[in-house]
Amino acid sequence: MAGLKVKQDFPVFNQTIHGHPLVYLDSGASAQKPRCVIDAVTHLYETDYANIHRGVYELSMRISECYEQARRTVQHFINAAHEDEIVFTSGATESFNLVVASWGRIFLKEGDEVVVTRLEHHANIVPWQLLQKQIPFTLRVVPIQSNGEVLLADVKAAITDKTKIVSVTQVSNALGTILPVEEIISFAHEKGIPVMLDGSQAISHTAVDVQKLDADFYAFSGHKIYGPTGIGVLYGKRAMLAKMPPYQGGGDMIETVSFEEQTTFQEPPMRFEAGTPPIAQAIGLAAALDYVSALGLDKIEAYEAELLAYAIDKIGSLNGVRLVGTAPKKAAILSFVVEGVHPHDVGTILDSEGIAVRAGHHCAQPAMEALGLMATVRASFGVYNTKEDIDALARGLEKVKEIFA
Ligand code: ALA
Repeated sequence: MAGLKVKQDFPVFNQTIHGHPLVYLDSGASAQKPRCVIDAVTHLYETDYANIHRGVYELSMRISECYEQARRTVQHFINAAHEDEIVFTSGATESFNLVVASWGRIFLKEGDEVVVTRLEHHANIVPWQLLQKQIPFTLRVVPIQSNGEVLLADVKAAITDKTKIVSVTQVSNALGTILPVEEIISFAHEKGIPVMLDGSQAISHTAVDVQKLDADFYAFSGHKIYGPTGIGVLYGKRAMLAKMPPYQGGGDMIETVSFEEQTTFQEPPMRFEAGTPPIAQAIGLAAALDYVSALGLDKIEAYEAELLAYAIDKIGSLNGVRLVGTAPKKAAILSFVVEGVHPHDVGTILDSEGIAVRAGHHCAQPAMEALGLMATVRASFGVYNTKEDIDALARGLEKVKEIFA
């Protein structure tokens, strides 16, 4: 396995943790940052910083252009048809809340149905549930198989003539299952139903082309694709965003504000970006997307597939370790349990060896419940991970077993 050989791009690896080289296997929660992203943000604060869209002076004009250039970088990265289809949010969570609060409040009424799967992250469940307190629509939940798969037939069965939107993840954050989103979208579209995709766990692992997918909405977070925290993206087709009212009010999203006349609003995307947005974070995200593009998503996807296959083989063959989520199509996420040991104890012992994993329900409690579990240990991979990291994980798990023997 040749590897991408990019660990040296990430300063965080220039340290030891509890006396061991850092083995970072929690990119699904948040990815580490390459030097170029850190430098882009630092450079901005040192040379070009001001507020955007408000100043007539040099610095403000420069940074406004950088911010809009970042929007175009995102547009090209996901191949959106128009730059005004890219809304900057604080993260995928806000992207979901925006769609639910704006689109949902206008287009859902009592008796309507929204289709989600049992694999969803809480960010694609709870905003809908909050809206249900105001509008009594129904959430139709597509079941999952014991291997963590979501069957297309089950999605089709959940879609009825009352369905108003299908909102599903492209890749499960808890198990790594890849959903058949192309087929889901074409089936829903035959019935005139829009589809929102949660791309949070897909965007850093596979090339995303929103036009080819034909997704109506696509959400992702910057920090999971090697960018800063506090920045995310909502892609929405022009025709969808144009129908949606503002989600938050404040500066920069208005045309005119009046106590006497109607306050009027800007066109998308500005209509949805009230207040001072995460400026430096958007520019850092653009640097991260450039970094990923330069590595090449095809190369990343192929390498991570090799890494996952190696991990499935190595970790899955350890006695007393059971993989959770063995769907035939999976992205770079490995969930497992060590028989007789709580995942938090596994995580703590691995940490003592310098190995960072996530242990818990992964903000996907309904999925865990369906599998009869409270929690799992999750190793999730990024461009910097190597076969040696997985060997270290296997040694760490042997130590866990020794301690609990
Ligand atoms: N959604 C993030 C995860 O899956 C935090 O860990």
